[in-house]
Amino acid sequence: MAQTLGIDIGGSGIKGALVDTDSGELASERLRIPTPRPATPAAVADTVRQLVSELDYSGPVGCCFPTIVVDGVAKSASNMGEEWRDLAVDEALSAATDLPFTVLNDADAAGMAEMRLGAGVGLDGLVITITVGTGIGSALFYQGQLIPNLELGHMAGKGGISIETWASDRVRKDEGLSWEEWGARFDKFLNRAARVCSPDHFILGGGVSKKYDNFRDLLTVTTPIHVARFRNNAGIIGAAMAAVDRD
Ligand code: BGC
Repeated sequence: MAQTLGIDIGGSGIKGALVDTDSGELASERLRIPTPRPATPAAVADTVRQLVSELDYSGPVGCCFPTIVVDGVAKSASNMGEEWRDLAVDEALSAATDLPFTVLNDADAAGMAEMRLGAGVGLDGLVITITVGTGIGSALFYQGQLIPNLELGHMAGKGGISIETWASDRVRKDEGLSWEEWGARFDKFLNRAARVCSPDHFILGGGVSKKYDNFRDLLTVTTPIHVARFRNNAGIIGAAMAAVDRD
C-alpha cells in the first residue's frame, strides 16, 4: 500500500497526513498546526518542517497552496501575503525539509481527490469543485481532465471587489451572518459561476459542506450540487495524489 504525505496549507491551518492514494483513506493521524501570522515564507516553511518531522516521514510530498500555482510557483498572494507572489513554493519547502515537493492550488487538489475517488466519480462533462473556507476556491474538470487555476472566487462582485470577500465562510463568521443571509450570498455566487462556465455539476467542499443542510433549500441554482466525499481532507488527499502522479 503506497503511503504519501499530503499537506494542505490554508489561510488558518496547515494540515497534513499520510495518504493511501489508492483508496483515498488517511493512513496516519491528521495533524493541524495553525498557520503562523504573518504567514511569511520562512514561518510557513518552518511549520511544514515541523509537521513532516512529527509524522516522521521521508519521501515525496504533495502540498496544496491557496494561491494560483504554476509549475510550483505562487502566482498570486491571495490570503497568504505578498511575499509569496512569484516565489517557488516547491523549492522553498524542499529546502526546509530536504524532501521533494509537488505543489498545486488547494482547490485543484481537492477537486482531483473528489474526481478520482469521491463525489466526482462517474460525473461526465464539465464539473466544478467549489471549496468554501477562508477564501472561495474552484477547480474545473472537463471529461475528467483538470484545467488548473480557475479562480471563480475572484469574479468581481459589487463595487468590483472579489466575490469571495463577500461570500466566503470566513465572511459568514466574521460578519455573524445567519445561514439565510449567507446562503443568499452564496447562491448569487453559484448562479454567477453557472452563468459564466455552464457546468454540468458542482461539487461542494470545504467547511460549509458539512453544514449543507443549513442552506441547501436556499439555493436556486439549477446545476446539480454534490457534497464532497472527503470534505476537509480532500486537499491533503489530492496533494498526495499529485505527488504520486509526478513520481
Ligand atoms: C485563492 C484561490 C484558493 C482559494 C481557496 C482564494 O483566495 O485565490 O487560489 O484556491 O482562495 O483557498
